[in-house]
Amino acid sequence: MTLTKRRPVTVNTLRDMKAKGDRITMLTCYDATFARLLDDAGVDAILVGDSLGMVMKGEEDTLNVTIDEIAYHTKAVARGLRAQGAARIHLVGDMPFMSYQVSAEEALHNAAQLLRAGANAVKLEGGVSVAPTVKRLVDAGIPVMGHVGLTPQSVHAMGGFKVQGKGEEGRKRVIDDALALQEAGAYAVVLEGLPKDLATELTQLLDIPTIGIGAGNQCDGQVLVLYDLLGLNPSFKPKFVKHFANGADIVVDACKAYVDEVKEQSFPGLEHSFGVKKLQAVPAEENATPYGSVAVAQ
Ligand code: KIV
Repeated sequence: MTLTKRRPVTVNTLRDMKAKGDRITMLTCYDATFARLLDDAGVDAILVGDSLGMVMKGEEDTLNVTIDEIAYHTKAVARGLRAQGAARIHLVGDMPFMSYQVSAEEALHNAAQLLRAGANAVKLEGGVSVAPTVKRLVDAGIPVMGHVGLTPQSVHAMGGFKVQGKGEEGRKRVIDDALALQEAGAYAVVLEGLPKDLATELTQLLDIPTIGIGAGNQCDGQVLVLYDLLGLNPSFKPKFVKHFANGADIVVDACKAYVDEVKEQSFPGLEHSFGVKKLQAVPAEENATPYGSVAVAQ
């Protein structure tokens, strides 16, 4: 199925995409500028993920991210999408560590904060243990995306960021978690850090869409951290990540060019300067800068 560019992606759209075998694309995003670019690129869903703890705040894990921080970045992303006119992207706000585990009441208030910030849905980690909370949120009209397998907020309980669902017991635990989420009313579920065959089995077993990260290519969709996809941190290259661009080189080269031009005083040129009275275009071949035709003062 080819989606019309500006038709909003809703929970129903994602369900239809699973039924039609049309792969769902989701990326993390934390600001208005990238939100606009992701909408232009035709990405289906944005996750304002608690991965912002690592990629924006420079933390080692996601545990210090607060609901206010996710709400702040969700607002920024939502503003960026609104500036697009009728943006089509489905916007999911991540519920950070301890924003939903203490009580269903706290979870309701915190999820409401993300919806008020502009999210269309929330995501939270866990399975059987959070299913009653998921049900409370869904009953209150809040769409919930689940997240099972490698759940980064439980990094210490897992003994590190390790692939889950190994062995008979491990497989059963993940399957039970995913089924409990579906039963509780989750509309989709992220499968993170799972063996490919288990993710494939879950995708066939569940009626709701599965969105994989480090879970093979048979999920109904895929999600990646935007900064990983862009290759902004070349030294971070776990097995499941593909750098679709050499983002770090692009940024460093551009900044180096700026440094050079400022040092040699070729930037700002007259064309970037105010109060230069009369400007005259010069042919590109006479132009000393690498940017084609510029204007010079007479
Ligand atoms: O916070 C995040 O970015 C995530 C995705 C990696 C699924 O939870």
